[in-house]
Amino acid sequence: MPRVLFIGDLVGRPGRTFVSKNIDALKRHAGADILVANAENAAGGFGLTAPIAKELTEAGLDGLTLGNHIWDHAGFDQDIDHLERVCRPANLPDQCPGKPYLIIEKDGFRLGVITVLGTHFMNIKASCPFKKADDLMRELEGQVDAFLVEMHAETTAEKMGLGWFLDGRAALVVGTHTHVPTADGRILPRGTAYLTDAGMTGPYDSIIGCTIEPIIAKLQDGMPRRYVVASDNVQLWGCAVDIDPKTGLATHFESVCIKENDWGPAFV
Ligand SMILES: [Fe+2]
Ligand SMILES: [Fe+2]
Repeated sequence: MPRVLFIGDLVGRPGRTFVSKNIDALKRHAGADILVANAENAAGGFGLTAPIAKELTEAGLDGLTLGNHIWDHAGFDQDIDHLERVCRPANLPDQCPGKPYLIIEKDGFRLGVITVLGTHFMNIKASCPFKKADDLMRELEGQVDAFLVEMHAETTAEKMGLGWFLDGRAALVVGTHTHVPTADGRILPRGTAYLTDAGMTGPYDSIIGCTIEPIIAKLQDGMPRRYVVASDNVQLWGCAVDIDPKTGLATHFESVCIKENDWGPAFV
């Protein structure tokens, strides 16, 4: 049964190099056949660039997803259509560049990957994530064996809502964006694995990936500060799901944590 490892937001050089330099070992450690990662913070903590996307996919990542930081790097809007294994959030306006989904094929198994943006407290234009996920899944019926739907959102209720909305239709509904892993991973009654937030892959001695002091100072005085990616205590967080290709549903779910300096068991 194919196992998909979903990796939470890669943050800056520490997050992306931990993954790109250790792909084979990480795959073995988690027993994964397909690797999908959110890369919205892979370039300096904010956004993605074509060279970094290529570094990650050439290293062996099968799919890269994005979020609200998608356009942070100038020129990425020109590059995204040339990046075969990168998709944009599906519910951005239709005229935005980038593919609204990916189909990843491995050994005859076809995984549809869709990211939708939440609409609560998200400073980016996007349509209803429920309708967009529903529409796209109908459109792709018969073209894929299972769906991975990522909900890139701020609020837990909006993420949980999509999980229950798609229960019995997606193999996995996984949240990203808050960079803090949640402990509620489970398989819902109709067979969809669900996790409110995968967490980030990057330095955990930080505030959601960036150095601590400027953020504490800004929280106190509201003055602008430059945020810099932190460096210490790099960890990969995400989840692994085994998928029955006949039903397109989850048969097994685990949260995953692999620490750069101490490779203990992969599963939490
Ligand atoms: Fe992020
Ligand atoms: Fe985000």
